[in-house]
Amino acid sequence: VTPEGARAVDRYLVETLIGADAALDVAVADQRAAGLPDIEVAPTGGKLLHLLARAIGARRVLEIGTLGGYSTIWLARALPTGGRVVTIEAEPRNADIARASIDRAGIGDRVEIRVGRAADVLPDLAGDEPFDFVFIDADKESNTVYLDWAARLGRPGALVIVDNVVRSGRVTDPADDSAQVAGIRAGLAMLADDPRFEATALQTLDAKGWDGIALAVLV
Ligand code: DHB
Ligand code: MG
Repeated sequence: VTPEGARAVDRYLVETLIGADAALDVAVADQRAAGLPDIEVAPTGGKLLHLLARAIGARRVLEIGTLGGYSTIWLARALPTGGRVVTIEAEPRNADIARASIDRAGIGDRVEIRVGRAADVLPDLAGDEPFDFVFIDADKESNTVYLDWAARLGRPGALVIVDNVVRSGRVTDPADDSAQVAGIRAGLAMLADDPRFEATALQTLDAKGWDGIALAVLV
């Protein structure tokens, strides 16, 4: 695998299968202009989330980590009338940018943005209807906390996706003792050991480089 080859294939796949999309393209342009980090999911990953949510007929989606709303728009577009994405964002400024992009995309009525640290916001969702789909894409240090909430707030059979579980191979670098990678490893260990999950993971090589997602179903 060469980086140039992988980039060329990714461009080809995006051009062939996804193409330009006004609302998504403006959402990315706006978050770049606002100086947000370039860490939203790649187009192929965004559409994967969308298709998975559609395939399972998800009506209620929980997203942890809104950033500028790019993945939120993909997810919200998967929902039937009356469906809802609850998305949690710690940075009020990110949430404002996301709100504008989500509204402009025409699915604002299906998206509720909760501003605050996810660990503080998640307990507030406990009384609500269970979620069909959970996308975890926030501070990696807290992945086990978020997985625990996903298991509590999701219905049996719910799909749980965790972004960024490979990080250019850092997950298996014994010299990497960062809190971020420790959080990723702890999350994967939890998916393996906690009987509430059946899980696998896939490495990805896309516009955002070499990374991966974990996929789990709630038992
Ligand atoms: C980072 C976070 C992400 O969710 C991502 O997809 C890529 C990078 C980060 O914090 O560096
Ligand atoms: Mg991510």
